[in-house]
Amino acid sequence: MVTGIGELVTNDPALGPGPLGTLTDAALVVADGAVAWVGPAVAAPDADRRVDLAGRAVVPGFVDSHAHLVFAGDRAAEFSARMTGARYDGGGIASTVAATRAATDAQLRARLRSLVAEMRAQGTTTVEVKSGYGLTVADEARSLRLAAEVTPETTFLGAHVVPPGADRAGYLALVTGPMLAACTPHARWVDVFCEPGSPHAFDGDEARAVLTAGRAAGLELRVHANQLTAGPGVRLAVELGAASADHCTHLTAADVDGLAGGRTVATLLPGVEFSTRSPYPDARRLLSAGVTVALATDCNPGSCYTSSMAFCLALAVREMAMTPAEALWSATAGGAAALRRTDVGHLGVGARADLAVVDAPSWLHLAYRPGVPLARTLELPQA
Ligand code: NIG
Ligand code: FE
Repeated sequence: MVTGIGELVTNDPALGPGPLGTLTDAALVVADGAVAWVGPAVAAPDADRRVDLAGRAVVPGFVDSHAHLVFAGDRAAEFSARMTGARYDGGGIASTVAATRAATDAQLRARLRSLVAEMRAQGTTTVEVKSGYGLTVADEARSLRLAAEVTPETTFLGAHVVPPGADRAGYLALVTGPMLAACTPHARWVDVFCEPGSPHAFDGDEARAVLTAGRAAGLELRVHANQLTAGPGVRLAVELGAASADHCTHLTAADVDGLAGGRTVATLLPGVEFSTRSPYPDARRLLSAGVTVALATDCNPGSCYTSSMAFCLALAVREMAMTPAEALWSATAGGAAALRRTDVGHLGVGARADLAVVDAPSWLHLAYRPGVPLARTLELPQA
């Protein structure tokens, strides 16, 4: 039993007031890795083993529904150039592709595992991991094979960019044919970087071909949409019933209406705008229209190299005018919705016992004390 919880966010409105279902002076009983009981500490059943949190706050573990963790090298110099005026256009992806292809499995695995450990140490208990820096049949398949060692949420992103020197039509045939076939056994999702204005990424027709081929192979859909311009990505995601349209930085009124009327979550990645010095997405416009919003890191060596969901939550509050409660919900339950998961992102009975402890009397400190490493995953003793 976990006891001494000063403030417990359950994200279950049946358990406490508001959408966060918050309890004070709470306890939570875990059995077989799941929440078996949750409520006021005074009403808690007896338990053999107790973990006393001495008044700290607990929230559902963060669900980081968008990350690119299989890569080698870094692009610190590209970041530095952006901070003195260079624009982000995805062109730097090619250098990560070269470094990734040259790396051994052991090197890629070590980096991947260290990033997942870094995330876990900061309260992230579910993470999605994309391929997309291999861009050959063998390199994409190995990226996903490695990703599947650390998470069931694996995403085939062979359609990240057209590799340097490749013929566009030929590469699209490869991605939708032999590469897809080699990657499907290791992937749950298919994704595409839909950005018609970029010479590197894919236009609406190309993205549709990637997504429909992925779906025919049994994968579920997510889309890198409307990051650099108000292109067709969001409309396509909604039309095809993708689980999530990610970035959503540049939206038309029709995009917002489509998201509001469909079942596609809008995943906002404010660490990208921070790290590319770009205008932030209009989260309030989406929330006012009734769109389900998720927050994720997009952790990758190019557009945003943070692993901290707490940092993204603080950015969402300060830079996108989300309330702290909206931002916490989006970083937990919103991420779960973006992954179509009902077992994570909340702490109702039956949920996975994925708990993040906040070393503060209130979860509000996540936004109130930006940059301070207050959140950590609670590692429970094995039964
Ligand atoms: O989500 N936009 C495309 N892909 C990544 C960035 C990849 C990179 O720059 O290495 C993103 O921002
Ligand atoms: Fe991304």
